[in-house]
Amino acid sequence: MINIKSAREIEIMRRAGEIAAGALKTAGEIIVPGMSTKKLDAHIRKYIESRGAFPSFFGYDPGDGRKYPANACISVNDEVIHGIPSEEKIIKDGDIVKIDVGARFNGYHGDCANTFYCGNKANMDPKKKKLIETVERGFYEGIKFASAGYRIGDISAAIQNYVESSGFSIVREYVGHGVGKDLHEKPEIPHFVEPGKGKGQRLSENMVIAVEPMVNAGSCEVKIQGDKWTVKTSDGSLSAHYEHTVLIKKGGCELLTLI
Ligand code: MF3
Ligand code: CO
Repeated sequence: MINIKSAREIEIMRRAGEIAAGALKTAGEIIVPGMSTKKLDAHIRKYIESRGAFPSFFGYDPGDGRKYPANACISVNDEVIHGIPSEEKIIKDGDIVKIDVGARFNGYHGDCANTFYCGNKANMDPKKKKLIETVERGFYEGIKFASAGYRIGDISAAIQNYVESSGFSIVREYVGHGVGKDLHEKPEIPHFVEPGKGKGQRLSENMVIAVEPMVNAGSCEVKIQGDKWTVKTSDGSLSAHYEHTVLIKKGGCELLTLI
């Protein structure tokens, strides 16, 4: 069964979402060429802890004995998701940097991600600009259907249609998810449709889900690297990510990680 949140739980999740969103926004603002991804990770940890919350991803075990060794995921260029911050990983002018942040406050999580450009945006390669715009717009196309009565597959189809008609591909191996006391709850929220599979479950009021399309400039294929976490595009093409924690309401939704 999908978790339906009480008014009290939603109040806590608003605060968790606000903290995650603040950490993400401020991390995006301090990116400069020459900065290590570890420095951004440290900023995120400090921001979250100073507000009485904890980084959700630290020590996270997906169920196979791995434990995530950092606070945030920071993935550069052809890295899609789950990049492990490191002192050696230096961000360069012209890089696109995906930051994914989770914050746990009073036992509940907020989860969000965005793609930032390092350098002067006026000089940005138009292909990078279009990729970053497409993942965000694809997300907003999807959440037009994030309200009570629609089905999960309505969100998935809208995202896939927008992304593919823009000339990009949508990652299939990783999907969105319910959010609450656990970072990953039911249901899964795919960002694509599997023909013949139906539209999935119906959304109802006070469900909370993370919608997080990952969009590749080339093929949708991805592969996990030797560090067992970092996911890269198989063809070396660029990738962008955009995520919010979304509260389902009657006639619409509320983004809990928007600030
Ligand atoms: N936003 C990602 C997700 O929802 C972050 C998880 S990273 C992990 O799956 F480190 F916690 F695995
Ligand atoms: Co997520």
